[in-house]
Amino acid sequence: MLKIVRMGNPVLLKRAEPVADARAPELRGLAADMIETMIEAGGVGLAAPQVGRSLRLFVFRVPEDRLDPAEVEERPVPVTVLVNPEVEALGDETEVAVEGCLSIPGLVGAVERPVHIRYRGLTLDGEWIEREARGGLHARVVQHEYDHLEGVLFPMRLSDAALFGFREEIEAAIAAARQPEETCA
Ligand code: NI
Repeated sequence: MLKIVRMGNPVLLKRAEPVADARAPELRGLAADMIETMIEAGGVGLAAPQVGRSLRLFVFRVPEDRLDPAEVEERPVPVTVLVNPEVEALGDETEVAVEGCLSIPGLVGAVERPVHIRYRGLTLDGEWIEREARGGLHARVVQHEYDHLEGVLFPMRLSDAALFGFREEIEAAIAAARQPEETCA
């Protein structure tokens, strides 16, 4: 397990350095440790700056049990390592959803992001992979992790400062706001 650095640590605010050789053996070890750390922490993504390494590399996954039931087309994504990734928004559509971060334990916030993206990056074998993601956790986690490589944390992107707080409080507030109005007969 690697130590996850928390918000306030300057490494999280730096633009991370490009990786010179995606096939470097030491990168393979780092990525394996990051995957183990992400899974152990119950996260869906982890970027190298979050373990104190200012490198353009992140790992992520979309597990079956984290799919949003409202996103009927979304499929699980196996653990993926991306080196020197690029992300591009496709179209103008955006959506707001609640995000958390392993570097900001306990806190969540509502963030507006593009719905439809294309992303690419190198694997640890030095091959390019390119995928599209539309809505749901997949598109969101890729954009969140990419932000870490740019030194951006989700509280810098809040769409509504009132929807930033401790997970249980925000989830309760959102659930209360969604309750249908009670009618008195
Ligand atoms: Ni994060």
